[in-house]
Amino acid sequence: MIYDLAVIGGGPAGYLAAERAAQAGLKVVLFEQRNVGGVCLNEGCIPTKTLLYSAKLFDGARNGGKYGVHTQDITIDHTAVIARKDKVVRMLVGSVKSTLTALGVDMVLAQARVTGRSDDGFSILAKDEAYVGKSLLIAAGSEPVLPPIYGLKEALASGFAITSREALSIKTVPASIAIIGGGVIGLEIASYYRSVGSSVTVIEMLDHIAGPVDCEISAILQKNLSRKGIDFRLGSKVTEFRDGGVTYQKNGNDIDVFCDQVLVSIGRRPSSQGLGLETIGVEMDGAAIRTDDRCRTNVPGVYAAGDVNGRSMLAHTAYREAEVAVANLLGQDDKVDYRSIPAVIYTNPEVAGVGETEQSAREKGLDCSVRTLSMRYSGRYVAENEGGDGICKLVVNNSDDTLLGVHLIANYASEIIYAATLMVGRKLSIAELQKTVFPHPTVVEAIREALFV
Ligand code: NAI
Repeated sequence: MIYDLAVIGGGPAGYLAAERAAQAGLKVVLFEQRNVGGVCLNEGCIPTKTLLYSAKLFDGARNGGKYGVHTQDITIDHTAVIARKDKVVRMLVGSVKSTLTALGVDMVLAQARVTGRSDDGFSILAKDEAYVGKSLLIAAGSEPVLPPIYGLKEALASGFAITSREALSIKTVPASIAIIGGGVIGLEIASYYRSVGSSVTVIEMLDHIAGPVDCEISAILQKNLSRKGIDFRLGSKVTEFRDGGVTYQKNGNDIDVFCDQVLVSIGRRPSSQGLGLETIGVEMDGAAIRTDDRCRTNVPGVYAAGDVNGRSMLAHTAYREAEVAVANLLGQDDKVDYRSIPAVIYTNPEVAGVGETEQSAREKGLDCSVRTLSMRYSGRYVAENEGGDGICKLVVNNSDDTLLGVHLIANYASEIIYAATLMVGRKLSIAELQKTVFPHPTVVEAIREALFV
């Protein structure tokens, strides 16, 4: 059968593109080899947020005394948390599937491979059936980076080392867990397992956690997570896995960490192997499919959206890229603004930011100034965060008095940051923003106040 659009991959980029294209009247086929919903719905964003919500309730109850709430014998039932996570995932995946079905998208639950092109379009093979798409969207996602560290292969095979996929489903809480990589995945999972009682050690190669996050905010986050009992080993590179532990190198010394489980969270890379892209001459940048801001590859009619193009590797970027790819294949002019993509870490407290950080702006030589404000300027923040040390940081472009970036550490930051995304993305001036009325009392008022610093 000949389709207007063939989509390979059923994660956020793939399923949203299929939805948008079908809504526009195109005949669409979607191929998915594992689970519709992809990593985000099945083993990433949504499962993590479900677990972290239970942890937040539990921590809140245990610390209720500070707020005049006294509880006794509070426990957290990890098995029940995992069961609820599975229910949430089933519900959301079910809803994506029924939307696609209602829109008339054909779903093929099998691995698909591009085999070449003909006058009709691009040929695809899945489960020994041949399909043709006049246009093609590759949305095959990403997979964990598993470097050739000594003993890692064996540790993964024995189940001693796990990736985030298994970490979100393990049946029993490990007494101790070592987490390799203090990036987003490492920190979110460290946060959950510490709340449910594991002894947690995070081993990070850099001298700070949370990679590209603003330095000051990264330090505050580390302080908060250390207070919770997470042990950080920074400037430490893991060099060996063996039975019952890992070895890392710091300042030329080998140091052992003994633990019951190891999580490997040292990054993800685009899943582009075995897709048959070479048969149609798609250009690559290493494992990533090279795309322009319209999500076009070098081959006319072939688009790539989501983690597989390696540009931002976030589910919300994938959504936007899916829409941009479909708009362009429909002949409309649309581009992704990669300058203003928000990033969030769902720890407690949450971290969120958009645009340039103080460090990235200075590295680029931008003429900027920084306005930093304690979150305590927000009445609601003070009411809800006994002893909270959150901050709000604005990076201001001195040449036109607009915002280059906004960075927050405080709960609700994940929900607030979209407002900052608009401010940065639309280049609204500080003067205009100062005239905007924010609801009171809210945590987001800290941004308003920072505009006047
Ligand atoms: P990451 O790139 O955020 O962090 C990996 C960390 O591992 C880095 O800080 C790196 O320095 C460290 N590392 C590398 N090799 C090491 C070694 N041998 N020893 C010690 N440390 C080492 O990658 P992560 O956390 O795996 O996340 C992968 C992707 O998933 C990211 O692209 C992220 O954006 C996405 N993601 C986003 C989430 C969100 O938006 N909240 C949640 C989870 C994942």
